[in-house]
This record gives sequence, structure tokens and C-alpha cells, in this order.
Amino acid sequence: MSFTVAIDGPAAAGKGTISRGVAAHFGFAHLDTGLLYRVVGAKMLDGMDPVEAARTLTASDLDRDGLRSAAAGQAASKVAVNAEVRAALVDFQRAFARRAGGAVLDGRDIGTVICPQAEVKLFVTASAEVRAMRRFRELVAAGEDVSPDQILADVRARDDRDMNRATAPLKPADDAVTLDTSEMDIATALAAAIAEIDSRRPAT
Ligand code: DC
Repeated sequence: MSFTVAIDGPAAAGKGTISRGVAAHFGFAHLDTGLLYRVVGAKMLDGMDPVEAARTLTASDLDRDGLRSAAAGQAASKVAVNAEVRAALVDFQRAFARRAGGAVLDGRDIGTVICPQAEVKLFVTASAEVRAMRRFRELVAAGEDVSPDQILADVRARDDRDMNRATAPLKPADDAVTLDTSEMDIATALAAAIAEIDSRRPAT
């Protein structure tokens, strides 16, 4: 039987860490759907047509180097406004969501568009300043030469593009539970997510 957890929210709100923690706790498969858009963005930077890149994407593309870079993130956010790119990525995500044993997908439109029937929907958010500082630390740890101001501007630009695009804009599903992690450490945020999922799991 499938059991789908949809985790949406803006860049660097803690979705990835919470999703990985939830997957490990419950033994669910995990798909970071941002990686799909990053693959398409990276291929566009290589000169490929983004719609073609989305149509031909396979699971092995997700192991490509450089997908976590700031450049791939910006390119991802740009290709993500393209309705044909988004449509070409739907089946891959829905097939993943139906995996036996449970699946957690994190992204921007999982609860609203990809898996509106998900058993659990979380909207993970935090202030732009807190998210920029987290992303800055991650990128510095990964050896990138960036400034905090540049990252805050980057977070705001991506929020603006993700929330205001015509197709599948970032917003909480009507039935999503919002988790604001601005003042939470990761253990607290993960515990809150696990408690929410536990309360919606079928009794065994
Ligand atoms: O989560 P991330 O930073 O890896 O996402 C990169 C970009 O991909 C983000 O700016 C918006 C886009 N994206 C999307 O439009 N829909 C998703 N489900 C996931 C990511």
C-alpha cells in the first residue's frame, strides 16, 4: 500500500533535512524534487533545450555533479517557470509517490499539484533572513565563495520567482500543516514533522 508525505516550502527552510529524517525514521523512499529542476537547469546551461531535458530525464541524472551549486539553483528556478518542463516531470514524481512502503517527496508543488491526495502535507517555512544564513553556511561548507548579502538577495529572488509564477506557484495546500522553523533547531522541527505523520498513519 502506498503512503505519501508531501513536504513543500521555500528554498532553505529545512525541507531537505526534515524529509531525509522522516524517510529514515519511517523507512520511506525520499525524492528531493528540486533535483529534477536542477538537472534540467544544469542541462540548459550546457546548451540543451530544457523541455527536451525534462522529457528525457532518468533517475541516473540525479547523481550528476554540481546540482547543489548556487548556479544550478538559479537555473532550476528559471526552468521551473516553464509549464512544459513541469508537465514533463509529473509522471516521474507520481510514480515515485506510489512506491510500496511509503514515500516522502519534497518540493514546491507536491501537496498542491503532484500529489493532491497525499496522506500528509507539510508546508515547511522560515524567515528569508534565517533561510539565507542557513544556505550561506551550507555553501561555504561546500567551498563556494559567496557573501551573506548575495545569498539573501538570491533567496528573495527565488522566493519571488517561485511564488509568483503562473504555473504551480509555491503556496501551502489548503489542507497542509505549516511548520515555521525560524526558531526551531533541526531536532525540534523533525520531531514535530514525525508527530504529525504518526497522527495520520493507519493503525497497524
Ligand atoms: O529546492 P531546490 O532549491 O533544490 O529547488 C530548485 C528550484 O526548483 C526552485 O527554485 C524551484 C524549483 N522547484 C519547483 O519549481 N518545484 C519543485 N517541486 C521543486 C523545485
